[in-house]
Amino acid sequence: MPTEAWWRDAVIYQIYPRSFADSDGDGMGDLPGITARLPELRRLGVDAIWLSPFYPSPQHDAGYDVADYRGVDPRFGSLGDADKLIDTAHELGLRVIVDLVPNHTSSEHAWFRAALAAGPGSPERQRYIFRDGAEPPNSWQSVFGGPAWERLPDGQWYLHLFDASQPDLNWDHPEVRAEFLDILRFWLDRGVDGFRVDVAHGLIKDADLTDWTAPSVVLGGLEPAGPPPPMWDQEGVHEIYRQWRSVLDEYPGGRILVAEAWVQPEERLARYVRPDEMHQAFNFPYLEAPWAATELREIIDSSLAANDEVGATTTWVLSNHDVVRHASRLGFPPGEGRRPGIGIGDPQPDAGLGLRRARAATLLMLALPGSAYLYQGEELGLPEHTGLPDEVRQDPAWERSGHVERGRDGCRVPIPWEADAPSFGFGPADASWLPQPAVWAEYALDRQVGVPGSTYELYRSALRTRRTHELGSGELVWLATDPGALAFRNGDVVVVTNFGDEPVALPGGAQILLSSEPLDAGGLVPTDVTVWAML
Ligand code: GLC
Repeated sequence: MPTEAWWRDAVIYQIYPRSFADSDGDGMGDLPGITARLPELRRLGVDAIWLSPFYPSPQHDAGYDVADYRGVDPRFGSLGDADKLIDTAHELGLRVIVDLVPNHTSSEHAWFRAALAAGPGSPERQRYIFRDGAEPPNSWQSVFGGPAWERLPDGQWYLHLFDASQPDLNWDHPEVRAEFLDILRFWLDRGVDGFRVDVAHGLIKDADLTDWTAPSVVLGGLEPAGPPPPMWDQEGVHEIYRQWRSVLDEYPGGRILVAEAWVQPEERLARYVRPDEMHQAFNFPYLEAPWAATELREIIDSSLAANDEVGATTTWVLSNHDVVRHASRLGFPPGEGRRPGIGIGDPQPDAGLGLRRARAATLLMLALPGSAYLYQGEELGLPEHTGLPDEVRQDPAWERSGHVERGRDGCRVPIPWEADAPSFGFGPADASWLPQPAVWAEYALDRQVGVPGSTYELYRSALRTRRTHELGSGELVWLATDPGALAFRNGDVVVVTNFGDEPVALPGGAQILLSSEPLDAGGLVPTDVTVWAML
C-alpha cells in the first residue's frame, strides 16, 4: 500500500483529550499527558490517532464549542504542546487527525461576540443564522433537546442545532468559507495528517428553513431513511468538501478528511466520499446494527457495495465519545441499550455478556477489509460508567432534554492505566473530572499487559495479525455456515462469528490464529465468540 493511501486500511484510535492522560494532576487530561502515553499506542499497534477538540473553548459541549480554531485551550496545554504531540506521534510512526467543528462556533468566538455587539441587521450577524419575529422562525428542535432557536434581548433569534452556546454558522457567507480554508491550512502547515469533520451533514440548511415537525433525533441516532430533513444532508454540503479536498491535495503525504455524518442509507453516506470529496465517513449504520447475523451481514454488504461504487474505502466503528460503549451496549437484550446514556435506576447491562460480545464484535470488525476506528479504553474492555451520580453530569443533553436523556458522560470517564495508583494512573493526583468507578481497577492497563486472554492482549494480537495477513486491504468472501453464524474468508484467513445458541464448526483443517474466547471441548465455536483461523 503506497503511503499516500495509508488511510485505506488504517486502524485509527480516538483520543478524548479530557480523559486520556493528565500530566499536571488537575483532573483534566491534557496534550503533554497524551504525548507521554503515545508509545503505549505504538505498542498497541494502531496506525493513527484522532484527537477530539483541544481548542480554546468554554467547554459547554466538552470542546465541541470552539472559541478559537487556531489555538489550544490552556486546560489542555499550548500550541507548542500540540506541535510536540504531532512530532512525537510522527517519530513513532503514528499519523495525527484533529477534529474540525465547522457547523457552529462557540458563543464566545470573536465572530459571535461581534455579532451580538453589532446588533440586528449588521454585517456581523450575517455570518450566523439570525432571524426576526415574535415567534421562533420555525419548529426545529435542538439535537440536545428543546427549541433550536434562542432569542436575544434585542428580539432577534439565532439558530443552534446543538446547545444554545453553539450558534450555527451561515455557510452561504463567503467569509465563513474563506475562514475555514485558512484554518485547514493552519493545521496542515503544522503537520496534521487529516481532519475529522464534526456534523459534516449539517453545514447547509434548506434555504427556506422549512418547518420540520418530526421528533428531534438524539445524538448517536440515525434519522429514518427517507428524504433528508431540511437541516441535514443538503446537496450544498458537497461543494464545500470538494473545495476542502482541493486544499488537502496541495499537501504531500496523504492528508485526509473524515465525515461525521449521521446519514443513511449507505448510498447517501457514500456521496461524502466520492473521489473529489472526503476520504472516509464513519459507518454509523454498522455501529447501530443489532448483534445478529442477518442484519450485520446485510450492513457489511451494503456498506462495502456503496463505498466500492464510489471507489472509497469502507470504515467500521463500534464505539466513540457519543454512544454507549459497546461492551455495555451489547450487554442488553436486542433493541435496548441504544439511548445515549445509562444512569442509576435505569435497566443495567449484563457486564459479562457485554464484554464477551464486545470481544467477539471487535474481532469480527478488525477482520473486515477497510479502515477501523477504536475509541480509547475499548482495548481494555471498558464498560460504560452506568453509576455516575446525576449531579456530576456535564453533557448539555442532560439539562436540555429536561433530564430525559442522561447524556454521554458515561463513555467519557478518564481511563484506567494502573490499578493501584491514584486516579488509576490517569494523572499524578487523585483527581478526575468525572469520577471513575472502583471496578475499573480490574480493567487497568497494567492488569492486562502480558496477561494471556486479556482484552488488551486480544486487541494487540488482532492488530498484529490484521497487519501480517493484510486484512485491511483484503477482500471479503462469504462462506456457508449455520444460520445463526457468519463465516467469511479474507485472503488466507477464515473468520467465524457465532451469534446463535448452538456451537458451530470451523471449516475442516482450520488452524486457529485467534479466538475471542476459548473454543469448546469439541473444538466448536461457542455462542458469542469470533475465531480467526487459517485454512
Ligand atoms: C458531534 C460530536 C459531538 C458534539 C456534536 C456537536 O456529533 O461528536 O460530541 O456534541 O457534534 O458539535
